[in-house]
Amino acid sequence: MRSLRKTLLLALLASVAVVLALLHSWPTRAYPTVDVRQRPGPGVEKLLEERLPEPDPSAGSIPYRVKESVAGLLARNGCVCEGESGGVNLPFAQLLFPRVSAHPLHTAFHASELHEMKKRRAKEYLGFQMRSQTPADLLIVAEANNPLQYPTQGLEVRPLKTILIPGLALRDVPRDIYTLNFTASLGTFDVAAEVDGVRVDGDGETHMTLTSRLLPHLNRQLQFITYTNTLYHPSTADTVQLETEGHQALFTIKIRHGITPKLYNTGSNTDKLEYNISALVTIATKTFLRYDKLQDLIDSVRKYYPTVTIVIADDSEHPKTVSGPYIEHYIMPFGKGWFAGRNLAVSQVTTKYVLWVDDDFIFTANTKLEKLVDVLEKTTLDLVGGAVREATGYTATYRQTISIEPGEEEGDCLHMRRGFHHTIQGFPHCVVTDGVINFFLARTDKVQQVGFDPRLARVAHLEFFIDGLGLLHVGSCDDVIVNHATKIKLPWGQSESDKTYAKFRYPSASSDATHTKNGLLYFKNRFQCFTHN
Ligand SMILES: *[C@@H]1O[C@H](CO)[C@@H](O)[C@H](O)[C@H]1NC(C)=O
Ligand SMILES: *[C@@H]1O[C@H](CO)[C@@H](O)[C@H](O)[C@H]1NC(C)=O
Repeated sequence: MRSLRKTLLLALLASVAVVLALLHSWPTRAYPTVDVRQRPGPGVEKLLEERLPEPDPSAGSIPYRVKESVAGLLARNGCVCEGESGGVNLPFAQLLFPRVSAHPLHTAFHASELHEMKKRRAKEYLGFQMRSQTPADLLIVAEANNPLQYPTQGLEVRPLKTILIPGLALRDVPRDIYTLNFTASLGTFDVAAEVDGVRVDGDGETHMTLTSRLLPHLNRQLQFITYTNTLYHPSTADTVQLETEGHQALFTIKIRHGITPKLYNTGSNTDKLEYNISALVTIATKTFLRYDKLQDLIDSVRKYYPTVTIVIADDSEHPKTVSGPYIEHYIMPFGKGWFAGRNLAVSQVTTKYVLWVDDDFIFTANTKLEKLVDVLEKTTLDLVGGAVREATGYTATYRQTISIEPGEEEGDCLHMRRGFHHTIQGFPHCVVTDGVINFFLARTDKVQQVGFDPRLARVAHLEFFIDGLGLLHVGSCDDVIVNHATKIKLPWGQSESDKTYAKFRYPSASSDATHTKNGLLYFKNRFQCFTHN
C-alpha cells in the first residue's frame, strides 16, 4: 500500500515536471511567417501597374519624329548573334584582320536533351530572379499635382530596426478634415512624438491613420513618423503606401544589413612613398607537369621580389616537391583542372592583392608590380592586367570588352570584342575594359567573390570575366610586362612533358572541354549564343 502511494506520488511529481518543462519550452511569442522567396509583397506589382498615370488623351494627336540614331540604341526584346562572312582566307588572317564569329550555344547539347535542358534552365532562372529582385527594383512614378510629399529613394532600415521617415508633408488643399493613411507589409508605423490636434489610429501597426482639422499640425506630426521593420527578411524592401483623399503615393524602404567589409592590414608604413610588395601582394599560379618552367618562374621572381609569397596549386599525376622560403605548394588530385587550381591558389591568399601568373612566365626588370599596385591603390578598379611578351617580341594585353544583350526565353546574347572602353586619367598606359590577359593583379576579396568555376577544367580564361561582369571593375596597363617562356615549338623539339601538357591544355574544338564550356555559357549564364572576334 505504502509503495503504491509512493509510486503515485513519484508519477505525480514526474508529470508536474514534464508539464513545467513543456510550459518552459513553449514559445512565449508567436512568430509571424515570412516569405523568404523574396517575392515582392503580394499585389505590389498590380498596385504599381494600376497607378501608372493614364496617358493624356490629347497628347496622342501631337506628332513626333523618331531619332533613329538614338532609338536604335534602346535595348530591343530579342538579341542577335551574327558573324561576319567573307574576307580573306590566309594563314594568320584571324590575327591580322580579326573577323567576328558567332556561336550558337545550344549545340553543346544533343537535340534530344535540349528541350529538357531549356525547361530546367527556365526554372532555375525564375528562381534566380525571385532571389535577386526586390520591390526597390520596381518602377514608381511620382505624379504631377500630388499634394503628398514623400521620399522617393534612399530610405533604408536595418532588419528589425526603426527609422524616422524624412520628407513627409501634405500640401495645402482646402479640406474640413485631413486624413492620411500609411500602409506597409513588412513593418509597422508609429509616431516618435505626439502633436496636439492630430489623432493617431493604428500606431504600432502596419496600417496607421492620421486625422486632423489643422494642416500645420498635421504637417508637424508628419515630421515624427517612424517605420520599424518587424519581419526578419533582409535584402528585400517594403513598399509604403501613403494615401489621402483622392491621392496616393508609394515609396520603398530597403531592408538590409550594412555591408561588412573585408579589410586587409597592410602593415605600419603605408605612408611611405614606396609600396612594400611582400606585404601587399601574393603571387598565385597553377602548374601541371611543367616543373622546369615553374622553377624558372620562381627564380625570376626571387631576383626582384625575394620575400613575396608564391602560392602554387599543382594537379600533376606524380607531383614533385617544390620548396623554398615564401613558397606554398598545394597538391591536388590528378587532372583537377585549370580553374579548380586557380580557385585553390586564390583561396589561400591572405594579402590585399593577388597577382595571377601562368607557370611559364618569367619576371624581368619590366615586371614592376609597384605600378599595378599603384593603379589599384589610387583608382576604384578591382583588377588590372599587364602585358605578356612572347619570345618573338610581340606583346599582348588581350583586352576584351563584354556586352550582354537581353533576349527572351531563348536566353541572352553574349558579345566579346577586342578593345577597351576608356583610358584612365593619370595613368596614360592604362585603360578600362572588361577582360584581360592571364597576368593580372586584383583585389583578393573580389577575385574570391567571383571565383573560378571548377567545372572549367581545360579551356577557360575569359569565363572568369564573364562571371565577374558587373562585379569586377577591370583595367589594363601595357607598361608592366612579364615574359612568356617560348611557346612556339616544333613538335619534334618538344619534351615528353610538353607533349602531354599540350594534349591536356589545347583540346580540339569538337572535344568534351569545348562542350562543357558552351554548356555552361548556355545553362549557367543563360546565353543563347556568343560572338567574338
Ligand atoms: C484610411 O484607412 C481607413 C481605415 O482602414 C479607411 O476607412 C479610410 O477610407 C482610409 N482613407 C483614405 C483616404 O484612404
Ligand atoms: C615588408 O613586409 C614584410 C611582410 O609583411 C615585412 O616582413 C617587411 O619587414 C616589410 N619591409 C619593410 C621595408 O617594411
